[in-house]
Amino acid sequence: MKGSEYHEITAYQRSGLASGGRIRGGTPSFFKTYPTLPFYQLPKTPELPSCSLGDVLTGATTLASNELNLSLLSIFFALTYGITATDRTGIYSFRAVPSAGALYPCEVYAWLGGFRDLPHGLYHYNVARHGLEQIATVDSNDAFFEAWITAIPYRSAWKYRDRAFRYVLLDSGHIFEQALVSAKVSGITNKFKEANWTGTYGCRSETAICQRLAVDPHHERPVACVAFAPLSETAKIDYLTDKKELLSASAPANGADYGPVILNAINGTVGEVTIPIAPDISEKLPSLLFQNNAVQVILNRRSRRNFIKGSISADYFESYPKAFSRALPIKGLTVYFVVERVDNYDEGVYELWFDGTRPNLKLTGKGMFMSQLADACLHQMWVSHASFAIVVLLNTEELEKTYGNAGYRVGMLCVGRIGQLCYLLSEALGLGCCGVGAFYDYEVTRVIGLHSGMSAYVLAVGPVKKQVR
Ligand SMILES: Cc1cc2nc3c(=O)[nH]c(=O)nc-3n(C[C@H](O)[C@H](O)[C@H](O)COP(=O)(O)O)c2cc1C
Repeated sequence: MKGSEYHEITAYQRSGLASGGRIRGGTPSFFKTYPTLPFYQLPKTPELPSCSLGDVLTGATTLASNELNLSLLSIFFALTYGITATDRTGIYSFRAVPSAGALYPCEVYAWLGGFRDLPHGLYHYNVARHGLEQIATVDSNDAFFEAWITAIPYRSAWKYRDRAFRYVLLDSGHIFEQALVSAKVSGITNKFKEANWTGTYGCRSETAICQRLAVDPHHERPVACVAFAPLSETAKIDYLTDKKELLSASAPANGADYGPVILNAINGTVGEVTIPIAPDISEKLPSLLFQNNAVQVILNRRSRRNFIKGSISADYFESYPKAFSRALPIKGLTVYFVVERVDNYDEGVYELWFDGTRPNLKLTGKGMFMSQLADACLHQMWVSHASFAIVVLLNTEELEKTYGNAGYRVGMLCVGRIGQLCYLLSEALGLGCCGVGAFYDYEVTRVIGLHSGMSAYVLAVGPVKKQVR
């Protein structure tokens, strides 16, 4: 199944939310673990770097070129996918990145070589214990860092059924962008030549990567890769235990089955697209972005919905399109800003377009559309109290023309990256932000004033009443 078809058949409509069929299986486990493998505890309180989010985005970080060690890895993994908060009951936890329904369908692995006190090998990030489980050894003296994001779709499909693959891709895009930011903050990037940095959406053969990562393709699939020094394809790899035992760790529940629609969508959108790693932003950003500590911003990030209908400055507002140029432009993806309370900006819909790499905004429809948008977001009326909202639409035909079968995934991963940038900027600017993946697809498009294009994501941004914690 093509991505365009998948997106279309999982659209929500007022006449009835797509039921998506029956999900068979038990409650999923949200933490993958390998109890018998060697475990390397990452330091719980590593010395934290002091750069700001502004430094990270503009490439102005002057981090000491630390040796490659467990402290750097601790910062990288904690800031990419670590637990940052628990709810009042202490049962549910939240992570450095947001996740649709807090279901966290993704896992993170890394091929690591040249780190002090860590044998060269393949590691899985154990989120619950904040440590690395060694899956394989690699016979090499090289330094390498190649991180993989995989997804266990059942975790999300258990609640969202067929629509879950959308959320899996958006969640993965959030993690992808966050991994790039975390690598910069931790200083890991300093140790590897920029010419070797690569970002990859998808992969050529999922079977081959599943085998390499020793994950079970029935339950878990690779989604994206961030490498600052890729592992050589010919390196000798020895798995530390029986492959069957390793594969069994991928099963999230007894009888976990996410159904044929997602399976067909996964299989129909396989492909590899290599992209340049987030270029530094050359445009001027608000000074507040240089005053916060990036680590604190990431650790404090939460979805905040208690907007107070306040307005924000044009300077703050304009930092969003500037930051998005880390992931854009790409053909087949258009970002719109639905503006209601931004100083010096008329209320209306603005389309983001690029003059080369320079972002510009064009007013495409004048008026107040936030209430309509909130209603289209399954009546999540708090959206209407935000200062502005970001709506991302995909032209899947164009994406597929440009990137082949993988076009849909490329688009959705990119959308997730924009979402993560939006959350980070908002946190650093003292604003609230919340992603919205639940909407009547065609109504969102109509709010933008269009009759074509597929709604991929909505994010609301604005001043909020008080900090959640
Ligand atoms: C792809 C995606 C879709 C989301 N959709 C909604 C939504 O429709 N409504 C909502 O209130 N929150 C939504 N959220 C926010 C999640 O509920 C939130 O990230 C999750 O509960 C974890 O909380 P945290 O972001 O505060 O860490 C979404 C988040 C993501 C990443």
